[in-house]
Amino acid sequence: MQIHVITAFPKTFDGFLDESILKRAVSGGAVTITLHHIRDYATDRHQQIDDYPYGGGPGMILKAEPIFRCVEQVCEKYALPERKITLLTPAGQRYDQKKAVELSLRQSMVLLCGHYKGVDQRVIDELVDEEISIGDYVLTGGELAAMVIIDSVARLLPGVLGDIDSAITDSFQTGLLDHPHYTRPENFRGNLVPNVLLRGNHAAISEWRLQQALQITKERRQDLYKQYIEYEKSNPSC
Ligand code: ADE
Repeated sequence: MQIHVITAFPKTFDGFLDESILKRAVSGGAVTITLHHIRDYATDRHQQIDDYPYGGGPGMILKAEPIFRCVEQVCEKYALPERKITLLTPAGQRYDQKKAVELSLRQSMVLLCGHYKGVDQRVIDELVDEEISIGDYVLTGGELAAMVIIDSVARLLPGVLGDIDSAITDSFQTGLLDHPHYTRPENFRGNLVPNVLLRGNHAAISEWRLQQALQITKERRQDLYKQYIEYEKSNPSC
């Protein structure tokens, strides 16, 4: 998968791309991530990328022209298999695991990070195909949201996680929150690992994990729990 990020703050991604799973995803060839600095596409003497809003009001607005130039050049230079531009904004559709799976099936993504007070509406009208929010709160820019999306999508790409099960059994992927996990030692300051996990009976372990996941989901997320129960009712053989 090719991921292109259009941002006014490319340095924000330092560290994030150099560590752990993301680093492995890139070095293993599962994904390429290319950062494009909006300022590099500004043509005026001061390389201005933002300006005051027409009609007045607080904050600055990202200008349309450098973003148009950037998107056009990225699409041309990289011959993108899919020309879908995704804007990160609190006004977008709420992001979830279902959307992560959908994005992971694409061959390319272009993530446009909003900043300041917003982006000129003509960018949204003419260039943007979808708008995504990672939650009902306002960040200073779309960069953190882009990182959330890249991380959650990359771990779903084939070959990125060492053990394929670890993505398939993630919270949300199954429709339920994850069950508890334990590792050595068996006795930590008097707190014991549940006995069922030590006996090697895999059917009993699976059943215990399912019951734990159901209980935790019921306690914490009634919405997910109801959805799961409804789905199970209408698909009894699964
Ligand atoms: N930019 C600012 N806040 C955001 C959010 N919640 N989601 C996506 N992009 C954003």
